[in-house]
Amino acid sequence: MQAVIHFFSGTGNTARAVGIVAERLEATGWEVARHAIVGGTEPPAGIPDLTVVAFPIWAWAPPHFVLEYVRRLPEGRGAQAAVLATCGAFGAQGVGEMERALRARGYAVFASGEAAYPDNFLLAVDPPAGNELSEALLEGDQAVQMFINNCTSQNPARFRCGWRHVLWSWPIARLFRTCGRRFLGMFFVADDRCTACGQCAATCPVRAIRMEGAPARPRWSAACAGCYRCINLCPVQAIQISIARLAIHLGVNLALTAGWVWALVAGRERLPWALVAATAVFAALTVLQLTALDGLLGALERRPALRRFFAASYTQRFGRYRAPGFRPEQSGALSR
Ligand SMILES: Cc1cc2nc3c(=O)[nH]c(=O)nc-3n(C[C@H](O)[C@H](O)[C@H](O)COP(=O)(O)O)c2cc1C
Repeated sequence: MQAVIHFFSGTGNTARAVGIVAERLEATGWEVARHAIVGGTEPPAGIPDLTVVAFPIWAWAPPHFVLEYVRRLPEGRGAQAAVLATCGAFGAQGVGEMERALRARGYAVFASGEAAYPDNFLLAVDPPAGNELSEALLEGDQAVQMFINNCTSQNPARFRCGWRHVLWSWPIARLFRTCGRRFLGMFFVADDRCTACGQCAATCPVRAIRMEGAPARPRWSAACAGCYRCINLCPVQAIQISIARLAIHLGVNLALTAGWVWALVAGRERLPWALVAATAVFAALTVLQLTALDGLLGALERRPALRRFFAASYTQRFGRYRAPGFRPEQSGALSR
């Protein structure tokens, strides 16, 4: 019997979970292949006896490029599939959304589960260490074991978060996937600790980072997936969330939203037209914000006098998270 596990892991939690699943399946006679997903990866041809899709939850949803990958899987024609998500606390509708994507490709999703591991997103507290880390990993590992028991049981169950959680998490997930994630990279900046090693650019799963200028510094494009691998795995913790960039982009967003509401109120006599015109202007200005404004901020932050201002951040004080032993370059989780 053959199983293929398709997975993405930004900082190693999902790779760890996949290791446990593969080990357990192999111990019971399965032949297991692991297929790491990054932006643009093509799925392998052929349909195994079991397809497993594993991914981290981002803003209560699967990563956008993992969903796109699943939509390119070979037509399932009723083949068996299972879904496993890792999260920091609660993935809400994320597992259900992946189940729907697999069903739409013709797969019969018979089991699903969610495993909570240490969070890699907050950066406003130190990540767990020592015993605390061991306990947090154990809790996640136990949830993964339950997922496999569930897959191999006579009455497999699927993870359900309940419709109330779907109601609030679905719109947020959509918003994050379409535009929110694009802004995350706009908030990042490399401080003076940066050694220009280029590891962030080399390990970015969607190639959203370029090294620019002299001395070379990373620059993030609007293609950013929001995985936080660069910020968590930088060997000298040089990547910060810039307070200046955060404030400028949030200020512009607030102004644009206020302008959009004002245009609707002013044009309420001809609401459909006002809505179309205001939304078109809003979208055009947002594109300018992500390109021209970001370029301007990039040029300003390269000036020695302004570097400290742009690099000022609360994230300088806190540690980063990487699952023990995780190396993206060894797990096949690099852009091709
Ligand atoms: C951008 C982003 C958004 C996240 N959103 C959520 C979330 O909505 N709920 C949650 O429980 N964890 C969330 N997390 C935490 C991750 O899902 C969690 O740490 C996961 O195990 C990371 O897996 P990885 O190490 O394989 O990348 C988020 C992480 C990131 C980077």
